[in-house]
Amino acid sequence: MSLLPRLSRRPRLYNCLHALGVVKAYSQTHPEERACLCHHIAKAKAAVEIGTFMGLTAAEMADVLPADATLYCVDPYPGGGEPLQQIALRQIARAGAASKVRMVRADSAGAVASLPAQVDFFFVDGDHSYEGLAADWKIVRQLLKPGGIAAFHDTARAPEAMVHSVGSIRFFEEVIALDPEFTHLETARSLNVIRRNA
Ligand SMILES: C[S@@+](CC[C@H](N)C(=O)[O-])C[C@H]1O[C@@H](n2cnc3c(N)ncnc32)[C@H](O)[C@@H]1O
Repeated sequence: MSLLPRLSRRPRLYNCLHALGVVKAYSQTHPEERACLCHHIAKAKAAVEIGTFMGLTAAEMADVLPADATLYCVDPYPGGGEPLQQIALRQIARAGAASKVRMVRADSAGAVASLPAQVDFFFVDGDHSYEGLAADWKIVRQLLKPGGIAAFHDTARAPEAMVHSVGSIRFFEEVIALDPEFTHLETARSLNVIRRNA
């Protein structure tokens, strides 16, 4: 295992090293997946990320958003998650994208009241259990506007998909992929992208 995943289990040390510029934020996403996210989010005005962790995907997505757009970053940062949130805020600031990001420190269900009623783009990367993705799917169905795009990490059977994502893969295949209100756009490694029919 490389150093960063191991170091990410020591958030306070990671935060110090990040503040010093020794390490960048760690993410389990692949550069190909992040390029796909940035492509699909680029024209959004209201975007939501469920599961922000150290903010690497948030920083890259916010960077390509229009100046008047907002990316709502939802994460509860449980159990003393302040160092992780600090890393995320710093990573986003270093990308020059702080003005486009609003942090919502809550789980996805608790965040709904703080999110816009009409969302252009969702990136779902929070709780990868079957039930967790089922709860997030309910939120996507409630808030994603017609023509809007949603991307789901760890929902395709890529070689690097994590063991923890078995539930999210099954939920995607059994429910999301079969929903007639949505069209599948593409798969980038473990990331699936869909559009709500206009
Ligand atoms: C895989 S990480 C996200 C990584 C981030 N998208 C990146 O690649 O830079 C998952 C994060 O989801 C958060 N999380 C777990 N359950 C959640 C939920 N129900 N709502 C929002 N966030 C959740 C965890 O606290 C964790 O920080």
